[in-house]
Amino acid sequence: MRVTGTYERSSVSGEEVSAFLPNPLPPQGPPLDLDTEARRLLEGATEALRRLDLAVGMLPSVSWFVYAYVRKEAVLSSQIEGTQATLLDLLTFEAREDLDPEIEPDVDVEEICNYLEAVNHARAELGRSDGLPLSMRLLNECHERLLSGARGANGMPGELRKSQVWIGGTRPANAVFVPPPHHALPDLHSALERYIHSDDGLPPLVRIALIHVQFETIHPYLDGNGRIGRLLVHLLLEQYGLLGQPVLYLSLYFKRHRAEYYRRLDAVRTAGDWESWVSFFLEGTVATALDAVETASTLVTRIAADRSRLLAAKSTTVAALRLFELLPDHPVLTIPRAADLLTTSRPTASSAITLLTKAGILTETTGRKRDRIFRYEAYLERLGAGTEVGE
Ligand SMILES: Nc1ncnc2c1ncn2[C@@H]1O[C@H](COP(=O)(O)OP(=O)(O)OP(=O)(O)O)[C@@H](O)[C@H]1O
Ligand SMILES: [Mg+2]
Repeated sequence: MRVTGTYERSSVSGEEVSAFLPNPLPPQGPPLDLDTEARRLLEGATEALRRLDLAVGMLPSVSWFVYAYVRKEAVLSSQIEGTQATLLDLLTFEAREDLDPEIEPDVDVEEICNYLEAVNHARAELGRSDGLPLSMRLLNECHERLLSGARGANGMPGELRKSQVWIGGTRPANAVFVPPPHHALPDLHSALERYIHSDDGLPPLVRIALIHVQFETIHPYLDGNGRIGRLLVHLLLEQYGLLGQPVLYLSLYFKRHRAEYYRRLDAVRTAGDWESWVSFFLEGTVATALDAVETASTLVTRIAADRSRLLAAKSTTVAALRLFELLPDHPVLTIPRAADLLTTSRPTASSAITLLTKAGILTETTGRKRDRIFRYEAYLERLGAGTEVGE
């Protein structure tokens, strides 16, 4: 059996605790063995990502999908932690925030907004020639954004933990897994950073799978390790050139297969079983990427059909058509927001919205006379926005 690390024993309140110190990547003695099945999965995953990249590249406006998909991943990743908000809650909040910048999100929506800020920060840094490279420092900055606000405060935002944590059980002594002692974190991080920027000849997608486990095993923060570790996967997909845009919502797969996700992580540590983890990760990539390709193409079809209908309608105005083209970026809208986007008066925006509503494209959702909120339902439905996505 492969050994993936060593244990450091210590005594906590008179009880013996064994903290796990993972060996540096890549897996050694024996090296990672990608059998025929794994190679087939790898090919499938690479092909699925290529198709997804193409599907996105073919769109008239990439931002349509990136806007929605980054938000979908943010919602899904936060739902694993137990946040209840849906994509629709997030989009509705964003529409209302446009109306009134003072408005405060509820804690669940705030958590998702924080995740979005973390993603945007990382991508902005990585995209700038003088920005931070993919490093622990960058992840710490993301963590700071992720855990800002009331709920995150106890997780030491932006800081590595200074105490022992454990997973499963009520205290370190009876835990399923005790991550490395905090004094080991600096060395573990430099080794992980070195690995991220090295080339060991393994396929990039496989390397991403290994890096995710290593990150979760190191468990550098008091809280938020799962979310930052999933964010890391997305940053790596771009860094390694596998996807040009963040349009893979892999968290859906981890969420649906949560028990197996944890079991596979455990098996790497306890049985040295990297291979099963890699297969699980690749299966998830194939399923999620194909799902996204499918969603992208049904959305394109739907948008095209709605556009033709609008063009064919007698009363259609230029403002209505222009507003329609903005909907995929702003699927939840208020009249002031529409006026803003069209740089026009509120009455003009209002009649454009009325036209889109009559054409069956927009639906008013509040039932109120004032502060009304309109949604592009067909689009949101296809994104699975109203429910716990994918369930
Ligand atoms: N047995 C395990 N071995 C290694 N890592 C594990 C194990 N069980 C869970 N994890 C990781 O720990 C994460 C949870 O840690 P933490 O609570 O710090 O993160 P989070 O972002 O707050 O939560 P969540 O991942 O549930 O959204 C899980 O998502 C998983 O990646
Ligand atoms: Mg947590």
